[in-house]
Amino acid sequence: MSARERILQLRRELHEHNHNYYVLNSPSISDYEFDMLLRELQELEEQYPDMYDAASPTQRVGSDITKEFKQVAHKYPMLSLGNTYSKEEVAEFYERVRRFLNEDFEICCELKFDGTSISLTYADGRLVRAVTRGDGEKGDDVTANVRTIRTVPLLLHGAGYPAEFEIRGEVLMPWAVFERLNEERARNGEQLFANPRNAASGTLKLQDSSVVAKRGLDAYLYFMLGEQLPAEGHYENLQVARQWGFKVSDTTCKCRTIDEVFAFIDRMDVERKNLPFATDGIVLKVNSLRQQKNLGYTAKSPRWAIAYKFQAERAVTRLNEVTYQVGRTGVVTPVANLDPVQLSGTVVKRASLHNADIIEKLDLHIGDMVYVEKGGEIIPKITGVDTDVRFMLGEKVRFIDKCPECGTPLVRVYGEAAHYCPNDTACPPQIKGKIEHFVSRDAMNIDSIGPETIEMLYNYGLVKNIADIYTLKAEDLMFLPRMGAKSAENIVAAAQASRAVPFERVLFALGIRFVGATVAKRLARAFRDIDTLMDATAEQLVAVDEIGERIAAAVVMYFANVKNRELIAQLREAGLCFEVKDDESSSRSELLKGKSIVISGVFTHHSRDEYKAMIEENGGKNVGSVSKSTSFILAGENMGPSKLEKAEKLGVPLVNEDEFLAMLEQ
Ligand code: IVH
Repeated sequence: MSARERILQLRRELHEHNHNYYVLNSPSISDYEFDMLLRELQELEEQYPDMYDAASPTQRVGSDITKEFKQVAHKYPMLSLGNTYSKEEVAEFYERVRRFLNEDFEICCELKFDGTSISLTYADGRLVRAVTRGDGEKGDDVTANVRTIRTVPLLLHGAGYPAEFEIRGEVLMPWAVFERLNEERARNGEQLFANPRNAASGTLKLQDSSVVAKRGLDAYLYFMLGEQLPAEGHYENLQVARQWGFKVSDTTCKCRTIDEVFAFIDRMDVERKNLPFATDGIVLKVNSLRQQKNLGYTAKSPRWAIAYKFQAERAVTRLNEVTYQVGRTGVVTPVANLDPVQLSGTVVKRASLHNADIIEKLDLHIGDMVYVEKGGEIIPKITGVDTDVRFMLGEKVRFIDKCPECGTPLVRVYGEAAHYCPNDTACPPQIKGKIEHFVSRDAMNIDSIGPETIEMLYNYGLVKNIADIYTLKAEDLMFLPRMGAKSAENIVAAAQASRAVPFERVLFALGIRFVGATVAKRLARAFRDIDTLMDATAEQLVAVDEIGERIAAAVVMYFANVKNRELIAQLREAGLCFEVKDDESSSRSELLKGKSIVISGVFTHHSRDEYKAMIEENGGKNVGSVSKSTSFILAGENMGPSKLEKAEKLGVPLVNEDEFLAMLEQ
């Protein structure tokens, strides 16, 4: 096969894997295999620049980002655990260990945390490195992000810790944080995380650690490694680790018999439902380090430990109907309406069917008996159909082709699983949703208008789009049911006051797909006013740090719609702020005015984020990728090879951090 054919083949394969992973939530290959294929494609594309294709999987936002983390080899490989699914298998493990050791032993029983694993290195009591599992041999250096996790000690407490050691554990996103994050993402029209595990690993791979800091991650530690550990027992080491400031679960305990192990499993299968984070089983470890060493390892996992996975809870019930919900951004979500059934302590009546592909894959018919599971996910899902009890075949479920709310033919964007109603300026739930978003606290903060008021305002024809909020008069409002003079005046006053809201929040309030608060802030700072932003091309948009193609396309599409341009004209007429006021940007100088700067590599004097802030504060623009319009690269150690090559090719100068700091001294 020629290299060119291979490029096309890799693109096809990667698109498929992407879809399986992100859309269907059922990965077809491991992350590592995926990354290897992606890397191969990246290299080939660099060799054959004429094969450039904006739709290549390498052009997706994610890929360039992960590449930025420095890869670090693990001192001790990060292995996985053998899995068991029944008490018989647990008993077999116990028996194997007993026969092998032929002496007394203890088993340390722990929760199996359902997050993403991390290895922390401490030297002289300081956190020096945090690395993801990666392929087990080497992982991504995510130290800057892990530093933001409050439960990870940066400096150890007490004394007596070894000069250097590693401690491993799990980074988690607690349920409450996960739910809040997804609610926010839903409001911003962003793709939801399927479960807290994906949310935790996605967050750890973010480029901007200030965003990570706000995500509320947590970490439990469960494995200490090193030459001179404090104790001979695993459990005892963890207790010491707790003294040093690590978060160690207090459910962990030592068992002397298999019956004690079973009792632990039974207890935890109940108690885990009250825990604030997700778990997916139990981990059993031979406690003595000497015995661990004797038992040793297979190629993939230790012989001294095993995982017992909890059964995902499942129920069978009848599918009565599939209905469709239209969200603020026009995404149409199919919902299965079920005969009520008990599942993990709640009554389930509805389950999400996600998208058309999933309905097709399940081959659903009305009246089918379906399996409903609550795995790590919050919303129950339908995992299959019991075809053995299908005596009569009901009507086949087919995804609708018109919007259930306004009748507009639905569209499906190439490469995405979701169907949209494109009628975003007149479809009722989209308009009401947009108004709710517009008035919300982080947007225009006109919070005296709640959802019921919006419903009324819309139904009475008083507000047909967000601009109408500014033409409301107290007299119009007072005649609405349950609306007093005082509330009417409050609404009008809050709308008046919202004219002071800064540009970045106005931009967020518009409710452009994928433009959340952070993206809006970046766009506002980069383009300074709405006219420049409205005329920006996709190319100019992706040149802004953290703005990928998906966002750029959504922004271009939004402003290409004349109705949206009219809306902006009306809002401007109403007196809203459509440019960055100078006192907001707190520009310390104009030293870097007009300069587009790419940051790459690892720095010693300041963090990447600090350099980003310095560039912005001095009037410069922070951009993500090297192009001919890049003024210079602020280059640290270990700069990415592809960036280096591109810079050389385009003649973009490199500036090291000392030179850069000297530049700002002027
Ligand atoms: S010990 C050599 N303990 O499960 C043993 N792992 O399938 C290393 N995990 O990658 C792992 N809770 O991410 C261990 N209490 C626990 C755990 C745990 C969750 C995860 C971990 C690991 C995976 C192994």
